[in-house]
Amino acid sequence: MELVILPDADAVADAGARFFARALTDEPALPAVVATGNSPIALYARLAALQAAGAADVRAMTAFQLDTYVGVADDDPRSLWGWMHRAFVVPLGLLPAQIRRFDGLAPEPAAECARMDASIAAVGGLGLAVLGLGPNGHLGFNEPPSAPDAPSRPVALTPESVRSNARYWGDEDRVPRHALTMGMAPLLGARRILLVVTGAHKHGVLRATVEGPAGPDLPASWLQGLPQAIVMADRAAWEGA
Ligand code: F6R
Repeated sequence: MELVILPDADAVADAGARFFARALTDEPALPAVVATGNSPIALYARLAALQAAGAADVRAMTAFQLDTYVGVADDDPRSLWGWMHRAFVVPLGLLPAQIRRFDGLAPEPAAECARMDASIAAVGGLGLAVLGLGPNGHLGFNEPPSAPDAPSRPVALTPESVRSNARYWGDEDRVPRHALTMGMAPLLGARRILLVVTGAHKHGVLRATVEGPAGPDLPASWLQGLPQAIVMADRAAWEGA
């Protein structure tokens, strides 16, 4: 795992976007999973700016959805597909054929997750995973405890994730309790993994991810042993102030 500490969130977005653009140069048909949440939003905007300047080309890539709430329709404001669409798909101008997404309304959630793993395998695995760090160390909705070989699967959100997501939806009661998540196995198998961490509120979990013992109780800590994983953090997250 490589750790890069940058002065602020802007610098992280810039460096992250350039990292993404390099991955696209190396692999024009890049299969990339792109997290929602706050952490990578500015990075995606910078990537769109790089594309407008001719410095990134997303036309051959495939974008995979990282996770989705169960039972939440596309037009629900809480839809993570809606978030991915606004933050990534629209700014980059991706076409429907370039998207692989979860159906949170699928009648058989486990089969839907198996379908996702099959579609990742069909493109030879992920070329890039852009991830954020949950307050409990989750990646996607791989909640603690998560084994490194966990496949994509239906999961129940931990109380900590429910609390943390309440800031987006106004009230804990509005946060769905179940999700479909891409598993640790396809994420850790990505040829490049970029973990984006900004803000002093991530200090404790960032330090534990990088410096603590690796184990299932902090799923992001599984990145420690991986040479293809890069953590880009701002000084506030690293130093806690
Ligand atoms: C988002 C996701 C989550 C977030 C994480 C950090 O699709 O699956 O794992 O990446 O909770 O969220 P933010 O970036 O909002 O702090």
